[in-house]
Amino acid sequence: MKDSNFLKENNARSVWHPMAHPADSRANPPTIVTGGQGVRITDIDGHEVVDAVGGLWNVNLGFSCQPIKDAIAAQLDKLPYYSIFRGTSNDPVIELAETLREFFAPDGLSRAFFTSGGSDSVETALRLARQYHKVRGETGRVKFLSLKKGYHGTHTGGASVNGNANFRTQYEPLLPGCHHLPAPYTYRNPFNETDPERLAQLCLNAIEDEIAFQGAGTIAAFIMEPILGAGGVIPPHKSFMPGVREICSRHGILLIADEVITAFGRTGSWTGSRHWGVQPDMMCTAKAITNGYFPFGAVMISDAMADVFENDTTGKAAIGHGYTYSGHPVGAAAALACLAETRHLNVPKNATARGAELFAGLNALAEKYDVIGDVRGGHGLMCAMELVSERSNKTAIDKSSIAKIQDAAYKSGAMIRISGPNIILSPPLVLESADVQVILTALDAGFSAL
Ligand SMILES: Cc1ncc(COP(=O)(O)O)c(C=O)c1O
Repeated sequence: MKDSNFLKENNARSVWHPMAHPADSRANPPTIVTGGQGVRITDIDGHEVVDAVGGLWNVNLGFSCQPIKDAIAAQLDKLPYYSIFRGTSNDPVIELAETLREFFAPDGLSRAFFTSGGSDSVETALRLARQYHKVRGETGRVKFLSLKKGYHGTHTGGASVNGNANFRTQYEPLLPGCHHLPAPYTYRNPFNETDPERLAQLCLNAIEDEIAFQGAGTIAAFIMEPILGAGGVIPPHKSFMPGVREICSRHGILLIADEVITAFGRTGSWTGSRHWGVQPDMMCTAKAITNGYFPFGAVMISDAMADVFENDTTGKAAIGHGYTYSGHPVGAAAALACLAETRHLNVPKNATARGAELFAGLNALAEKYDVIGDVRGGHGLMCAMELVSERSNKTAIDKSSIAKIQDAAYKSGAMIRISGPNIILSPPLVLESADVQVILTALDAGFSAL
């Protein structure tokens, strides 16, 4: 390993960082993280902080989960790679699929298609949705509906259903036939409605209206996050996702739950769909499936969809899709160990308890600092604060102020994530009460630095 002078000198010189301007990364070199233990990370200067970002919504069990590390090491020794393309399989992937079938039974999902991450999972679900309708003979069902503010990764299909211009504009034209609906976002919405239940109904009405306009027979699927995450943690009213489910079922439209961040306990329930009492037709998972220790994902598929594919006699259901790393044995071994540990630790319970403490603490900070325009959370360990320069007219905060807050919070003990005007908090689900206090104290220091 090169010494710290080398690393600092070359930081961002030859790396283009995701979701960053290359010139900005050079001007403001990123924090170099060199270690992680429990819920804490250490940087190259030895500064240790609580990671309130949880890696990137994925290190749910923290950085020291030995059973997963051991499973990865053991699998590397036994069989470091073999493909599961037609004609071959490997032992951990078979065991994992059976484990996932049991885990996702309450969500009505029984088959798994393996991927290398969240964007891959989204792309897989979108493609399988179109194929499902083709196999059934409804060949005109090709369009996709999604929510503004939604985030579905950055492959072309995923970016096309994404609801944030930052991930779209420079890459257009995107996939045709993708239509975006208003999100149930009480702080800002086109209906000027602040009541969550009434807003949910208005958004559902807008979906009905769009389906009538497009023609239900042209729409393959509706993709949504049960709680919008990267778009700024937007929990809908409890009537919203069941309402979407009902509309989709009535119109023969598949419902894809994008649970890349919400599956495996983040919301305080085992899945976000279960949190709202909904069974989707497909579920995209990734991230916490291996605790972030190996790039891996799975699309879970319902019995009803499986019946259509598995009973096809025309050949149209042959899956012309897959990744070299679909069902990677090391990823599968990591996922098996991770699922066992996730269940053993019953992380949704802790996510609910610590999430409530964090949410209460953020609301208390909002009483103290006018720069906090909106606090969102209340469902497990996913919270956001939307910052404004003027509370009365909700003008978004400027970039340099929010960077100042982040910097001061980091110096005071917590890594936080900035996304546009939002501070997003998604710490590991094994967080303790004392860690919550460290995050809140660091944020307090951050705001008082303004
Ligand atoms: C809801 C959702 N879908 C998809 C993705 C993309 O996942 P990945 O970055 O692993 O490709 C993310 C990533 O944050 C996500 O939050």
